[in-house]
Amino acid sequence: MSSDWIIGLKKAMPSGMKILSDADSIQRESRDETEDLHFPPDVVVEPTTTDEVSALMQWASAHAIPVTASGARTGLSGGALAVEGGIALSMRRMNSILEVDERNLQVRVQPGAIVERLQDAVAEKGLFYAVDPASKGSCSIGGNIAENSGGPRAVKYGVTKDWVLNLEVVLADGSVIRTGANTLKNSTGYNLTQLMVGSEGTLGIITEATLKLLPLPMFKALLLVPFSSAEKACEAVSAIFQAGIQPSAMEFMERSAIALAQEFTGDFSLKIDEDVQAHLLIEVDAFRSDDLLPQMESILPVLESCGAKDPLFADDAAAQEKLWFLRRRVGEAVKAASVYKEEDTVVPRAKLPELLLAVKAIGKKFGFESVCYGHAGDGNLHVNILKGGLSDAAWSEELPVAIRLIFESVVDMGGTLSGEHGIGWVQRPYMDVAFSPRHLELMHGIKRVFDPKGILNPQKIMPSE
Ligand code: LAC
Ligand code: ZN
Repeated sequence: MSSDWIIGLKKAMPSGMKILSDADSIQRESRDETEDLHFPPDVVVEPTTTDEVSALMQWASAHAIPVTASGARTGLSGGALAVEGGIALSMRRMNSILEVDERNLQVRVQPGAIVERLQDAVAEKGLFYAVDPASKGSCSIGGNIAENSGGPRAVKYGVTKDWVLNLEVVLADGSVIRTGANTLKNSTGYNLTQLMVGSEGTLGIITEATLKLLPLPMFKALLLVPFSSAEKACEAVSAIFQAGIQPSAMEFMERSAIALAQEFTGDFSLKIDEDVQAHLLIEVDAFRSDDLLPQMESILPVLESCGAKDPLFADDAAAQEKLWFLRRRVGEAVKAASVYKEEDTVVPRAKLPELLLAVKAIGKKFGFESVCYGHAGDGNLHVNILKGGLSDAAWSEELPVAIRLIFESVVDMGGTLSGEHGIGWVQRPYMDVAFSPRHLELMHGIKRVFDPKGILNPQKIMPSE
């Protein structure tokens, strides 16, 4: 694409709006955290107001230039990559926490706010924003909304969609709408709020969000539970919920996942016995300290009956943070260790052992190793396929066949392709595994209504028509 249009863009935009085409900005905006993918945009725009976003979209629509919005570029499905070049619309300067409404337990926030900063800001007022992705220290709330992010606490508190009440969105033609109302109930027309959540910047640009909050649960306890078989660990997950227990996190890590995180962080203080093949990391939370012990006491016999070995208790904040730190580093650790592909499979919780077996059997057939970990309580298994000794040809030609088989098994089990990372760029060739042609046609129709010129984050989510 010739980039003469950039001169026109600079002339047309409000003065003071940041329009960058230096090599560093282009480089920064050409990646996210997905594999080693790299798509440089032609220009980077960093607005500071909704009016600037609106002016930009009016211009981009008139000139049919692609616009790919991004938050903090921590995505894992390539959703923020400008695969057709054009404008990278970075929302990172629109990062204010506009209002913490303590009476209604709500917060109004701009999309570029980092999630942990949002959590800390509301915690100062005794409030809780529950969604807690592994990348909370670096990901933005706008990115979380665009991808419908989850994370460990989703098992008790739900994913991003469960906390979004209302959005301000700039549409493809520059018009600005509010998708809902700041109310807990809303039966008024089609639910455009939930349509925008998870739409990965393909239907509009989120410029403000109103989110629900909870009172902050002040007390937590954490257990790291070893198992001699990964399957046994997965089986224990359903048994715990069936016993009527509601943990605030229920994470699964294969032995190799912890081992890679230990190498990556250089912290080997956690000793793992030879015969341990997997761990569950189980958190419970409460508003009163004396509510923790009964929860723990009800978990222990279930674990024992499922063949767990002696658990490690982390009862003070420092010991808990150490375990969570290790858990949160697993994704980066895999990335640092090998060329890899990550799938974000999700099945009904009780099918988790079956999913793990299916992944390992497909790996055996195609000759790849996988490191599996994730949000076991949600049936959400991150399957990291390592290139290892696979040839380049096998990696590029046979692996897609294997991934398709994994997704087919997942769908057969009542699950789907992505639990929390989105479809983005890397999963779109597999959308037909989850949806019929008629279903895909409906989705294409929705896209056309919102974005008739196809300028919003082109070639994402939907396979080509
Ligand atoms: C995690 C990210 C990869 O759970 O979703 O660590
Ligand atoms: Zn995850």
